[in-house]
Amino acid sequence: SIAPTISGPLLAWYDAHARILPWRAAPGEPAPDPYRVWLSEIMLQQTTVATVRPKFALFTRRWPDFAALAAADEHEVMSAWAGLGYYARARNLIACAKMVVAEHGGQFPGSEAALRTLPGIGDYTAAAIASIAFGERAVVIDTNVERVVARLFAIATPLPAGRPAIRAAADTIVPDQRSGDFAQAMMDLGASICTPRNPKCLACPLNQDCAGFASGAPEAFPVKAAK
Ligand code: ADE
Repeated sequence: SIAPTISGPLLAWYDAHARILPWRAAPGEPAPDPYRVWLSEIMLQQTTVATVRPKFALFTRRWPDFAALAAADEHEVMSAWAGLGYYARARNLIACAKMVVAEHGGQFPGSEAALRTLPGIGDYTAAAIASIAFGERAVVIDTNVERVVARLFAIATPLPAGRPAIRAAADTIVPDQRSGDFAQAMMDLGASICTPRNPKCLACPLNQDCAGFASGAPEAFPVKAAK
């Protein structure tokens, strides 16, 4: 397995360069609160970190846990959501909090499969919560991670047909330990170094093991289906 070859340098890079974000545990701290991880991951779907920051602060002050959110006035939650868009996310947020209180005693189940049964929690969010908040090994794939993996392995099959190959390749590099940090490191790498245009390969901790870099044309990945 090449897992240690990738995860070792990536986690060292993350320890030095991780973005400080209010829903992340401080370096050396134990895992962050699952409620805060869930809320941030839902907010970050289709919304930038800059927009999410103040909304996250507002929500966690007003509704600090599942019990508070489950008991919230729905109109108040919907108006607090204003500016984040995609209001189905806010409706699912309330439904999920209610289900966590009614069926799970006010705390998330820790497994990816159980998380996926909750309203608004799909493959990505279940994997993100299981790994970041519960320390479970999970393969977390968003568009940033998809690009990083497609480049690392120079996956030539165009999207969307290439997605299963990207997931299979990602599965080979997720470590057993610190899989949540690994996921967030991949996201940060995709946001700051392995960018869609002009990736900063010379600053990348993975360039020695990157087939996309070796090809001389990392920007070609992920390959998109011809329009
Ligand atoms: N985008 C969505 N979730 C994220 C996270 N946990 N860290 C960085 N970027 C993200």
